[in-house]
Amino acid sequence: MAISLENTKKITAPNYLGSKLRMLNDILPIIIKETEEDDIVCDLFSGSGSVTAALSNHRSVISVDIQNYSNDFIDGFSNPLIELDSDKFLECIDCEFKRLSLLAVELLEYEEALLADCEHIFELANFIENASFIRYSYEGFTSKSKNLDRLMLNTINTLKENSVKAEDIAATWNFGGIYFSFKQTLFIDSVLNVIKEQHLENIKSTVLSLACTLVNTIGKQFAQPLNPWDKDGEPKKSLFKKASSDRTLDAKSSYLRILESYLNQTPSKYNVESWCMDFKKALEKLPSGVTMIYADPPYTRDHYSRFYHVLETLSLGDIPEISTVKIKDKVSLSKGLYRKDRHQSAFCIKSQAPEAFDDLFRLAFEKGAKVLLSYSPFENEEHPRVMKIEEIIGIASRYFNDLEQTTITSFKHNKLNSNPNHLKRGLPGELLILFKNS
Ligand SMILES: C[S@@+](CC[C@H](N)C(=O)[O-])C[C@H]1O[C@@H](n2cnc3c(N)ncnc32)[C@H](O)[C@@H]1O
Repeated sequence: MAISLENTKKITAPNYLGSKLRMLNDILPIIIKETEEDDIVCDLFSGSGSVTAALSNHRSVISVDIQNYSNDFIDGFSNPLIELDSDKFLECIDCEFKRLSLLAVELLEYEEALLADCEHIFELANFIENASFIRYSYEGFTSKSKNLDRLMLNTINTLKENSVKAEDIAATWNFGGIYFSFKQTLFIDSVLNVIKEQHLENIKSTVLSLACTLVNTIGKQFAQPLNPWDKDGEPKKSLFKKASSDRTLDAKSSYLRILESYLNQTPSKYNVESWCMDFKKALEKLPSGVTMIYADPPYTRDHYSRFYHVLETLSLGDIPEISTVKIKDKVSLSKGLYRKDRHQSAFCIKSQAPEAFDDLFRLAFEKGAKVLLSYSPFENEEHPRVMKIEEIIGIASRYFNDLEQTTITSFKHNKLNSNPNHLKRGLPGELLILFKNS
């Protein structure tokens, strides 16, 4: 069945790990075939909201994710502020950006000089590793550059003198210097401050999208920052090019493009609700009209929240406690500056995942809903799957007697019975498995 994905232009996260954006052509037809027009579909573990965005042109959706950033993306397209006076909004942002930039002039000039000339490659490597307010607030001034230490300290004092608290510049305090340039984080903070002041929370998705566009890491993810040094302790050869191209991206021009897309979003045809809560509580609360649950839980031990921690902190706008690591008896902040309270999903813990899957299938069955499960069988030593697909099917078969498997990479659609051996043979790509009762 060909499903039109036109009119689905919505602000979801670009370059987002685990996003099902490229699989929508496979996911949507199955859901649409298996449901009636007035049914409600639950997008469990909604993440970037890419599935909800596309699906909401065809069915009502309840999206569920335990992290706030997901709700921000979904609220952003399901209830966009299209009446926004964007000229006035942008004027306020400019004004706030000017105010904040004046408090960090010297630091911004230093950063600009490092990014303009590869002569300063040592200073740049040191900056990318150490220029972090949150790190300084925990560990004091320990960078290899006295100049940088002085600039950071001066800036902290100037901020204090002007009654600017860490929470007022959450992006700069938490991630400036490490994941973005300070010039970019000050712009992000300016937008967040105007949003907060003017109660425009439904526009936060634009800021999260901006963060995804600007971030300076390998692959533009948030799991870990750039490591500026090679194995001999020298700055990496590629460092200057990589850092200067991302960190000099003009945040305002990028934001104007994102805001324009936000304001031009096609409203969803059907109702969308976003719930920020644990999957189990959400399944218990689902109304009776929900007949299909699309489930895309995390599968690796990595704890997916590492990949979303920057978005989550920008969404919450707080100054979180940072997790620590112990190397040779020395305790220091995690390199990625991860939130200590980042969500540790039961689906990522070997001893808890079987029960979590049992809860998922049992509660879906009790609600009379089918389950369409996304599963990626790709694995390597670094990222092993917490559960094998055969184990998951074994759990599902306690409640469902029929399954249909779709292998995405080969676009082959195979109807199989629940003999796990049949599945093993066709493991090359991403799998979609529909569990139902016949
Ligand atoms: C693989 S991602 C989902 C990707 C999504 N389908 C998309 O297209 O962007 C997994 C999501 O599950 C969420 N999650 C993990 N454990 C959860 C739980 N116990 N309850 C609710 N959501 C959870 C994470 O916050 C994350 O956003």
